[in-house]
Formats: sequence, C-alpha cells, structure tokens
Amino acid sequence: MRHKHLEEKLEKLIEKYSTTGQDISSYLEGLLYSDYLSYWDYINLDTLLTLQAPKTDFPDENIFIIYHQITELYFKLIIEELKQISNNGKIIKDNGQDLGWNKKLSFSFLKERLERIIRYMKILINSFDIMIEGMTKQEFTKFRMSLLPGSGFQSAQFRIIEIYSTSFKNLSLNNKSTKTDKNIIENFYWSKGATEIDSGKKTYTLTQFQKKYSSQLISLTKKLKKKNLWEKFKEVQINNEEKKEIINLLKEYDLCVNVKWKLAHFKSAVKYLKASGIIKATGGTNWQKYLPPRFQKIIFFPQLWTKEEKKEWGISWLKKL
Ligand code: HEM
Repeated sequence: MRHKHLEEKLEKLIEKYSTTGQDISSYLEGLLYSDYLSYWDYINLDTLLTLQAPKTDFPDENIFIIYHQITELYFKLIIEELKQISNNGKIIKDNGQDLGWNKKLSFSFLKERLERIIRYMKILINSFDIMIEGMTKQEFTKFRMSLLPGSGFQSAQFRIIEIYSTSFKNLSLNNKSTKTDKNIIENFYWSKGATEIDSGKKTYTLTQFQKKYSSQLISLTKKLKKKNLWEKFKEVQINNEEKKEIINLLKEYDLCVNVKWKLAHFKSAVKYLKASGIIKATGGTNWQKYLPPRFQKIIFFPQLWTKEEKKEWGISWLKKL
C-alpha cells in the first residue's frame, strides 16, 4: 500500500522532469547526499541580520533602519497582492513563465487580496509609534544628520503601490493625464515634494530618485493603464451586494494609505524635525506644506467618495489623532 503510493509519486516526478528533457535519477541521487533544509538557511537569517549598517554609534539608529526595512518588506507583500490582481490571478514568474495555477478575477479573489493588503497597511499604521515614540529625540537629531540626503521619500516601492492602485490622473498634479514620458515623471504629485522651501528647486534627494527610478516608474505607469486596481474593479463580474463589499474595502484601503499612514508618518516628522533646528539641515525641504494629506489630497478612488468627503480629506482624521 505504502509502496503503491510512492510509485504513484515517482511516476508523477518522472513525468515532471521528462517534459523538460531531464533525468529524474540524477536528482534522486542528489537527494541522497544533500543536507536537510534548516530554518536559518530557508529564510536567509544570517544574511538578513547583517543587513543593518548604521552610520553612527547611536543605538537608536538601528531602530530607524530596521523599521524602514520592515516597512519595505510589508510594501513588498502589498505589491505581491496588487500584482496578482493586475494579472487576473495568473501566477506569472519574473521570467514571464505562466505557472498555470490560475485563479480567476472573482469576488472572493478580489476580496481576499484587498483584505490582505488592508491587514498589512494596518500593521504599518499601528506600528508607526515605533518611530514616533520609540526613539530618543536627542539621538535621532544627531544620527539623522549622518544620513543626508537620503530620505524615505526615495522609497520606490511606495510609488509602485500607488501606480498599481489607481490611474495616473489621480497621482498627478491638477489631475492631468499626460502623454510624454517626461510629462509623466514631472507630473507625479511627489515631484513637488522634497523641493527647497525657499526657492522651490528640486533637492538632490529628488533628482537622485528620479535619475534612478524614472524609467521604471514610467513604464509601469503605462503598463498598468488598463490593469491597475481600479480598472480591475470595473472589470470584475460581481452582483450588487458583492460590489458594495468591494467598494467598502477599496475605501478602507484608500484611507489607510492616503490618510492614516500619511498622518502617522507626518506625526513623526513633526515630532523630530519641527523646531529642532533640523529643518534647515535636511536641506530645508517643503515637508510641512507637502506631507499633510489635506494638502496633498491624493485619493486613489475619487469616484467612491462624496464631494464633502473629498473636501474634508485628511481633516476629520487629523482631529481624531
Ligand atoms: C522618524 C521617522 C521619519 C521622519 C522624521 C521622516 C521624515 C520625512 C520627511 C521630512 C519627508 C519629506 C521629504 C523630505 O523632506 O525628505 C518624508 C517623506 C517620506 N517618507 Fe519619511 N520619515 C520618517 C520615517 C519614514 C518611514 C519609516 C518610512 C517608510 C518607508 C518613510 C517613508 C517616506 C515616504 C514614502 C515619503 C514620501 C511621502 C509622500 O510623498 O507623501 N518615512 N519623510
């Protein structure tokens, strides 16, 4: 009985390897000699724990680095879900290979993905206190100087999340859609962030970011024109009850990214940068005018909010904080 079970497995393996012209017996021999997988190898633990390279000896700098790294990992998880939605549930490897385990763009698929994304965002929002309360201001103001002109503003994954979520128009200055590549990059709303408060000129932080990521962000914007989250929502075949549920999730996601995360983040900037003398030292950027959601008014799904809600964007939530 047990052998029969093994024979069936073996048949399947032989078939799997023979379709690519490979010989299963060499792989089986390899199994005889290979070591067992360990936890530390599987998750690359040793490498992971060497990825923190503080620029100063202030212990709190490690908190700052690790929290940014944690955030980027959650951003990566969010992008994984957004990618799946954009591909209608097809699982496509980075080399373009379609694995053939396709799910369908359906109500339950979309709902589950959105719930996962919101769960990740909530963790980020709720944990932002690590930045706001969890570091000593004295240490922060010292080590932050050693990190210039680097800024979380240069997080490309954050921009990728935005591009996957909505049409370019909703991320652009004055809600314009533009045709040329140069226009796209210069019209993203964030091209007016990280500018010098006095002259309005781009800071080195911004120009370096654009130099590294412009072409990637432009091609993603074009690729997702008809495949972003909003377009997928319009495409999915669902009944009215289901539609209501998805709309509520989309609204929750919109609030999470564009109000709650942004406000938690803004709070950290206020705590450390305002009146600490560091404002000038960070290159004197326009962050106080740029970061608050009520000024940015970035809304992924403006169609889902009332006129009044859009007018009040980021204001009532600010009062609650
Ligand atoms: C004490 C903690 C933090 C402070 C004081 C801070 C400060 C700032 C400031 C002043 C800006 C505006 C751009 C500039 O002038 O450089 C900015 C932008 C930004 N930061 Fe942070 N930041 C902190 C933590 C983080 C963390 C943990 C992340 C996670 C990746 C992050 C991601 C971002 C992003 C994505 C932007 C652009 C936001 C937008 O365009 O609306 N920041 N930050």
